[in-house]
Amino acid sequence: MKLLHVVGARPNFPKLASVYRAAAAAGLTQQIVHTGQHYDAELSSSFFGDLSIPAPDVNLSVGSGTHGQQTARMIERLEPVIGGSGADWVLVYGDVNSTLAAALVASKLGVRLAHVEAGLRSHDRTMPEEINRIVTDRLADLLLTPSRDADAALRAEGEPEEEIAFVGNVMVDTLLHSLPAARQTRFRNQLGVDGSAVIVTLHRPSNVDSPERLRSIAAALSEVARDRPVVFPAHPRTAERLAQVGTDLPNVRRLGPVAYLCMLDLMEGAHAVITDSGGVQEETTVLGVPCLTLRENTERPITISEGTNRLVSDPATLPGLIRRARRPAVPHRPEGWDGQAGERVVQALLAHPSTKAGVLAEV
Ligand code: UD1
Repeated sequence: MKLLHVVGARPNFPKLASVYRAAAAAGLTQQIVHTGQHYDAELSSSFFGDLSIPAPDVNLSVGSGTHGQQTARMIERLEPVIGGSGADWVLVYGDVNSTLAAALVASKLGVRLAHVEAGLRSHDRTMPEEINRIVTDRLADLLLTPSRDADAALRAEGEPEEEIAFVGNVMVDTLLHSLPAARQTRFRNQLGVDGSAVIVTLHRPSNVDSPERLRSIAAALSEVARDRPVVFPAHPRTAERLAQVGTDLPNVRRLGPVAYLCMLDLMEGAHAVITDSGGVQEETTVLGVPCLTLRENTERPITISEGTNRLVSDPATLPGLIRRARRPAVPHRPEGWDGQAGERVVQALLAHPSTKAGVLAEV
């Protein structure tokens, strides 16, 4: 069986690492196609090194642009690659534009499509990711879900039961696998921060594209930074927006994007994390670190009901929430967040009726 993985943006890479490793152990043939959505070393190639994923077989170098431009370039360049690949399955991950583009191309070419991290819903279509999730799930032949609420969402949307496979969280596989190496980076020590530190990641348009919103977040972070270290590894678009609004974030330790293992080391030792990322909500739940998510909603409600996450609408409340934040005595891991999700993805692919039909035909 041949798998063709399509990835393109930072949150895809830890998910790919888990499935790639499990599929390699099962002896499957694999090809990695990188769309080039993310191209800076800190957002892309450093992950392949940190996670021991082989370099992509193909890089389509689509780069940045409007959603239409970027997605169109991906579709045009993916079509001959997927069409000529001889793949049995195209695997797509999460909810980024690369996921959507590959889903459209694979399904139109009649190549079977599996969506890893299917069924998550924020019910907020102002988020581009929500549109990507809905369309990708509609097209996929196999919906590999990270949590039971995702199964329920897919059923409610009318997806056939036989297309839904609960596998658990592949990103947690990679986190658990990578923790020893993350600790060895001693990144926290290098920065000289202790367990009182707060780590910040922000990049959603809803937070960084409105100057007024960004200023109110910056003011709150500066207030938090009066009491304790605040470390802010900023995504390139966030750095650009901060420069545009001219805020200097007094006392906040600004960094560029941080490599995967260093970020894990920072988060594991933190007092709390402030974020608008989806993946960070999950990672902090497993690490047992309080997470304050600057959003009105989340597609990952299990990180609130079973984890350490809390939604925060008003940035002005952050300093008080940070002061009161406490780690759980024992971090809880939701069902299937156990380090074995990648293996379950491979089992679901091997158990799929189309695979069995192929094996019988060969016999
Ligand atoms: C994308 C994903 C988002 C994910 C995030 C993680 C979509 C719709 N969004 O958002 O879901 O949470 O990745 O980082 O797919 N840029 C660089 N260097 C790069 C890539 C981008 O400087 O290597 C800058 C460019 O100015 C670019 C901007 O970041 O225009 C946005 O990049 P893009 O890939 O469009 O979206 P992200 O905000 O990164």
